[in-house]
Amino acid sequence: MRQLIDPQSSLTRAAPPRNTQAHESAVGHVTGRASYTDDLHQPAGLLHLAVGLSPSASGRITRLDLAAVRTAPGVVRVLTAADIPGHNEVGAVFPGDPLLAEDSVRYHGQPIFAVVASSLRAARQAVTKAIIEIDDAAPLLDPVEAIATHQTVLPKHVQRREHNRVVVAEEQRDKPLARLESAPLQVAGELFIGGQEHFYLEGQIAMAEPWEDDGIRVLTSTQHPSEVQKLVAEVLALPLHAVVAEVRRMGGGFGGKESQAAAVGVMAALAVVTTGRPVKFRMPRETDMKVTGKRHPFHNRYQVGFDHSGVIQAARIELIGDCGHSPDLSAGVVDRAMFHASNAYYLGDSLVIGHRAKTNTASNTAFRGFGGPQGMLPIENAIDDIARTLNLDPLEVRKRNFYAPGRDVTHYGQQVEQHLILPLVEQLERDSDYRTRRQQIAAYNRTSPIIKRGLALTPVQFGISFTAPHLNQGGAMLRIYTDGSVLANHGGTEMGQGLHTKVCQVVARELGIALDDVRISATRTDKIPNTSPTAASSGADINAMAARRAALTLKERLFEFARRHYDLEEGTLALEDNALTATTLAGAPFRLAWAELIQQAYLNRISLAAEGFYATPKIGYDPTTARGRPFFYYAYGAAATEVEIDTLSGEHRVRRVDILHDVGDSLNPAIDRGQIEGGYIQGLGWLTTEELKWNERGQLMTSGPSTYKIPAYSDAPIDFRVSLLSGHPNSEATIYRSKAVGEPPLMLAISAWAALRDAIASLDGYRSNPRLNTPATPEQVLLACQAMRAQVANQAAAAPSEELP
Ligand code: MTE
Ligand code: HPA
Ligand code: MOS
Repeated sequence: MRQLIDPQSSLTRAAPPRNTQAHESAVGHVTGRASYTDDLHQPAGLLHLAVGLSPSASGRITRLDLAAVRTAPGVVRVLTAADIPGHNEVGAVFPGDPLLAEDSVRYHGQPIFAVVASSLRAARQAVTKAIIEIDDAAPLLDPVEAIATHQTVLPKHVQRREHNRVVVAEEQRDKPLARLESAPLQVAGELFIGGQEHFYLEGQIAMAEPWEDDGIRVLTSTQHPSEVQKLVAEVLALPLHAVVAEVRRMGGGFGGKESQAAAVGVMAALAVVTTGRPVKFRMPRETDMKVTGKRHPFHNRYQVGFDHSGVIQAARIELIGDCGHSPDLSAGVVDRAMFHASNAYYLGDSLVIGHRAKTNTASNTAFRGFGGPQGMLPIENAIDDIARTLNLDPLEVRKRNFYAPGRDVTHYGQQVEQHLILPLVEQLERDSDYRTRRQQIAAYNRTSPIIKRGLALTPVQFGISFTAPHLNQGGAMLRIYTDGSVLANHGGTEMGQGLHTKVCQVVARELGIALDDVRISATRTDKIPNTSPTAASSGADINAMAARRAALTLKERLFEFARRHYDLEEGTLALEDNALTATTLAGAPFRLAWAELIQQAYLNRISLAAEGFYATPKIGYDPTTARGRPFFYYAYGAAATEVEIDTLSGEHRVRRVDILHDVGDSLNPAIDRGQIEGGYIQGLGWLTTEELKWNERGQLMTSGPSTYKIPAYSDAPIDFRVSLLSGHPNSEATIYRSKAVGEPPLMLAISAWAALRDAIASLDGYRSNPRLNTPATPEQVLLACQAMRAQVANQAAAAPSEELP
């Protein structure tokens, strides 16, 4: 058995950096002591909720008979849309998501009614007694057909840059690109990209209870507590200050709890106001998978013009996002796909079109990468096509096309400022021994008729910031108690990514105290108001910065007090190792333990609580001109993946992965490494095994782990080498010059898909370009191999003298 990490790699040799602290709940996670919403103390009289789902993907409800549900054992209350005191709408940004269906249904699995009962079992059994009749209409399930028939949830958006200028006039943007037609060479193609189920280990859940003065408290598993608060208030016709949403931690969110946790919290809250009792709502996994939206599937088309050295001159990329039945977050998802259509490459004259198709499925939503991964695939596909067309190494073509000084403005007008991608890729090329291994693999493939190997090294350039500018803000609050212990709160939520650990580290570092002296309690909307979702990988960028500002305020206050109180020389005060150190006016060294400093500050009536606020600077994108700077900065990474396929069965496995990833000056290398490994594996699942299937009636057929295959331990790369790029702090003034890490590593797995194409292309000596839709399951790989073999046979028949590989 091979070792997972090469003992010679720089990873194992380097001493662990000082800031490599374990996740704040690591021990709790592995011992089971970290509690999740379902583990919390159950209030007396707790009721349980279950939902009745639409058996049809589209049509009018002609009969809804709930009599037998009402009289079923244990049932306390049955809820329909008619029971909603406020408005029946839980859409995230745009309306379109009723909490409970009214006259018609728009997807198979849409909630129509809810049952509140004395036990979970009673609630779930009562649901089955409903009689629902629907005047079925044929569901629309194909996003391409949806666009052809103008079925969209939102209008299309177009970005265009031509003759070194972004074209801002809307009517000019959609015309054919002259330079594309005149380019010496062209590749074109299309690609279907499958969706992805979030498969958070903790499913969607909320527990709501009556709160003081007709208020309501919702304990929820959400990335966006303020959204839960707002929608509960709107549906129940309450002011926002009467609703508290609280989340200690999630067992994973991955974007699936950014907008879609709200409906779960609202449902529980509605049951609370109608029964006057606390209510918990947790769906079985199968229901969760049917009701909630997924990563957007995309159908993409590309045409890329290039010269004889493989340098791209022009590109037209058209992206069709399958949004499902409602807008939800699809405006932002398709925008982000468009922003990432160039990935790390300068496209020259470029036209990027994004469509938002409406189909009869659950409303697709945020998922790690938020459209970015789907947007990057066509250009990566095209670059490999260009390389094979010119008989060049794909990595060579990639390098020739990277954004570089003088070729550094994107199709939406943002200038790329930190030119890290080329040095990063060149370092990985060396560290992974790319050149030698490519030769070895080509040699192996010549002698191995059935088993073929492939290798690809692909880059990631991911824009960091919410593309909706107003979301780029965060707040924090610090309290120091008289024993010196510190309680921190901020607007971000913990879903396993280590945000709370990072924020505690920042506070401890600013105040010069031990990490154990800082604690974070649950995220609550009555502590930090109007928060943004913890999303867009910006959790630490925003909230750790806000916490740092609160810490600096306290530090200044403490310095000011101590300077006067102890006659200290200005400019000599410092907080480190749990003490205040300084020089007295008389020139003597001074030292006071942190706890004593706090005690004295308290006795002298110094405020020991402070707030901090941060708004990301420099950003702004104008959708009317399709131009601007949506991102504060870019995070970079690259991965080299080697795969092996069995060309007779399509089965494949990952033999080796080398990753070099840019996190600026890491806030916590251990946590960042975990994010990179987890992100890669999650991306690998998306691209190679996780296949969503709906039947022709729009019913999700893969609604559990037996039919939907997420990566297992045995799917992990046999040899997995992860390194952080060192010596390149963020060129922007982010928190300690770090970079966001949550989403970018997912796209490193694109190298696995490109490697699969490489292995398939070996069947005809790397001359033609296999089409490989994703997920590239064994079935897809086998079909691609068969198509390639058929093509080789045809060529042989046409030119019998030609020598075949
Ligand atoms: N890591 C874990 N363990 N669990 C998660 O749910 N979500 C990802 C990423 N990493 C996720 C995760 C997504 S989609 C995002 S946007 C970021 O974490 C959010 O957290 P951050 O902004 O604090 O990085
Ligand atoms: N990324 C992730 N989540 C979001 C975004 C984004 O850009 N915008 C709104 N929610
Ligand atoms: Mo992450 S998809 O931005 O929640």
